[in-house]
Amino acid sequence: MAKLKIGICGWGNVATGLYEQLVNGDEIYADWEICCIGARRDNPKCNPGSTKILRDIFEVVEEDIDVLVELIGGVETAKDLITRALCSGKHVVTANKAVIFEHGEELINLAKKNNVELLFESAVCAGTPAIKMFSNDLTANKISKVAGMLNGTTNFILSNMEEGASYESVLQEAQEKGYAEPDPSLDVNGTDAAHKIGILAALAFNSGLPTPSFYVEGIEDIQSQDFTYANDFHLTVKHLAVAKLNDEGIELRSHPVMLSKDSSLAGLKGVRNGIQFDTNLLGEFHVAGSGAGRESTASGLISDIFALSRSNGSSPMRYPDFSKKPNLLNFDDLVFKYYVYLEVKDEPGVLALISKIFADQSIGFDKVIQKDQLGNGNVPVVIFTDPIVENEMQTALKDLKNNPVILSSKIIRIEDL
Ligand code: HSE
Repeated sequence: MAKLKIGICGWGNVATGLYEQLVNGDEIYADWEICCIGARRDNPKCNPGSTKILRDIFEVVEEDIDVLVELIGGVETAKDLITRALCSGKHVVTANKAVIFEHGEELINLAKKNNVELLFESAVCAGTPAIKMFSNDLTANKISKVAGMLNGTTNFILSNMEEGASYESVLQEAQEKGYAEPDPSLDVNGTDAAHKIGILAALAFNSGLPTPSFYVEGIEDIQSQDFTYANDFHLTVKHLAVAKLNDEGIELRSHPVMLSKDSSLAGLKGVRNGIQFDTNLLGEFHVAGSGAGRESTASGLISDIFALSRSNGSSPMRYPDFSKKPNLLNFDDLVFKYYVYLEVKDEPGVLALISKIFADQSIGFDKVIQKDQLGNGNVPVVIFTDPIVENEMQTALKDLKNNPVILSSKIIRIEDL
């Protein structure tokens, strides 16, 4: 049997992780050959031995390969590279969620036109099975909801903050361990999780990829005290991305939430990702596993290469029907319960003022706690609200911010899973 010929583009943390798995790995790789590596520069952490190195990554496309593995990251150059490979009749495997989210429809159509495959298992949850599982194993199911902790870096940061570590030190550790993106702001500002939930929504609801117009918020404002106040009510703080289908359209969002500590997602620590699906045939269904890092990503990439090696000309993927454009619901109309943290001046009448502002928007309080004075003389007030429309909560927050006795304010939405 002819060997499967692989060209790797990129030579960073993920690419070297894949290379090391392949050269040190199992007998299944005996039928695979790494023909060349497109690397703009050497990586002192990995010696590629006698493998051919091409400094111009686009030259990898011209080589005698069956599969190009795109691991350069970014969007536009990656899109050009994938386009050229597909048009040259090469299969492409990528871990690049940004390029799939932004250009997936065009690239998959190009793959179909050229009778080759574009596989992207490790674009979501790294090696933890998600993409091919959605596409193949859940085929018989109607999926009504996908709720996922889809960014390993943010879960690593939040679960360590819960144990007392500082945001900055854990972010640095996540970068050193190779979990974070080259630009870590994409992790902490919610964009990376948004790309991933957009891809999952298309697969789950068999529709086109959504436009990036949905609500995205990161974890930059989460502080250790939020975990303390959440813990008082058996809650914790996580970053969650949600896609939900109902009769009117699709609810899509990516933001921090407070979750019951009893929920399966709340128990996932460190770099683990987890997804909860609501399905008609399996009922509620969960997957969880490592969601970032070189080993986990190599696992997902190898599963794609393996699927290609066994495909015998039939596609390992059931791609979504891109002609069905998703109708995204307006975030402002959604209903949540909220945790509200206010830092206020320690003056008589402040609580009455807060109550009035909330009452004006018909926002009911579930719990209100005034904490001890802070070192600066101000007082924290923590409120858990009844369910209320987002738009009304935003109006109340604006009114609070316009008031000089309210020094700072923050909300975290509470998610019932
Ligand atoms: N930076 C990403 C994360 C890598 O932390 O989840 C995996 O997509």
